[in-house]
Amino acid sequence: MPAIIVIGGQWGDEGKGKIVELLAEKARFVVRYSGGNNAGHTVINQYGEFGLHLIPSGIFYPGVTCVIGNGVVIDPASLIQEMESLKAKGIDISNFFISERAHMVMPYHLLLDALEEEARGAGAIGTTRRGIGPAFVDKTGRQGLRAGDLLEREVLSKRIAEMVTVKNGFITRVYGAAPLSAGDVFEKYWGYSQVLSRYIVDTVALLKDALARKDLVMLEGAQGTLLDPDFGTYPYVTSSYPTAGGGCQGSGIGPKDISRIIGVFKAYSTRVGGGPMPTELTDETATLIRERAREYGTTTGRPRRCGWFDAVAGALSVQVNSLTGMAVTRLDVLDILPTIKICTAYKSGDRVVQRFPAQIDLLEKCCPVYEELPGWLTPTSGVRRYRDLPLAARRYLRRLEELLACPVDIVSVGARREETIMIKPVG
Ligand code: IMP
Repeated sequence: MPAIIVIGGQWGDEGKGKIVELLAEKARFVVRYSGGNNAGHTVINQYGEFGLHLIPSGIFYPGVTCVIGNGVVIDPASLIQEMESLKAKGIDISNFFISERAHMVMPYHLLLDALEEEARGAGAIGTTRRGIGPAFVDKTGRQGLRAGDLLEREVLSKRIAEMVTVKNGFITRVYGAAPLSAGDVFEKYWGYSQVLSRYIVDTVALLKDALARKDLVMLEGAQGTLLDPDFGTYPYVTSSYPTAGGGCQGSGIGPKDISRIIGVFKAYSTRVGGGPMPTELTDETATLIRERAREYGTTTGRPRRCGWFDAVAGALSVQVNSLTGMAVTRLDVLDILPTIKICTAYKSGDRVVQRFPAQIDLLEKCCPVYEELPGWLTPTSGVRRYRDLPLAARRYLRRLEELLACPVDIVSVGARREETIMIKPVG
């Protein structure tokens, strides 16, 4: 069986964790392919509530092998902490592998992320300060350390000594901050090596064999398409590729092996951090959504910016990811609203803009053009079949399908796995 990709269609936090955990029941492999511990997936299941940052959501199924792919950057301290917290709750993590090609977040990345953000002042991106940007800069700058470097003491020691010298130059001369000690960094990372080495393998070979056996492989996206460095609101974006294309690159699985690409969208929009968000609300509806849906970052606890569904941005997501279907999450959050709006176009001065602009200065000038639909004012969390949804809720979903030219495969009406309407099952 070929691979399925689950991606974020908006600015992240769409509820991918729940959708992947749900579909993972049918999968044999679940692979994270981008980002790092900037991502946060909340999973609620019979074992409790978990905030996963690096380990794929499939970890809760004994028959599922979880993989951190080559496209991820790993902060080993954060990963070990996550592994320990899962083990403490009785979750078996022996079916878990790390790509030898995945880059590592180093202490100087964390420091530089904070120093760079402070230097940006009012123009700060609002990064998660997990060192993600600087780690990807080093990856493309060909200066990164990879998980495979943890396997050899001599290699690790040499690479850390080289890189700490280079980075200390920036840290002390550009930012006037205190230098790092290469010896301390090495001791720390050699310690991580003792815990992680047994998990570090050639995951490309592992996945090739899985596909040859026709095992279902699920690729779990992190962040969302509008945070993609190419298609998102650059420069207010992340540093790796949350798209379906990123799924291929970040796992070593080619496009030919992908059979289905599911884009996860909230029934409204949220964003954390800086950057334009045309449908952002600052009125009581925003507060209502935020409080009702606990819209606070899983990783940083920051309040998320909330707004109406943006179909202009959504259509771009459908296009650049070749989505075969959508999962619409948190529909129940809208249960209490008498009127619901969808942004169908933007207006910039007198001009109607139908396509998501590439330049943020143009996007910042765009005002949303809204279509208003009646709300359903009925609880939906108990609904399990599409046809049992209130008519107004079905009309809302149908309109999203029309505007995005993409079918709705899954509707989520609550955080729990059973609070789901599966229109097109997997497997
Ligand atoms: P970074 O990925 O930490 O460098 O942050 C860059 C931008 O992406 C900031 O606006 C972050 O708030 C945003 N971001 C990164 N990861 C996530 C996520 O998992 N969900 C939502 N926003 C994210």
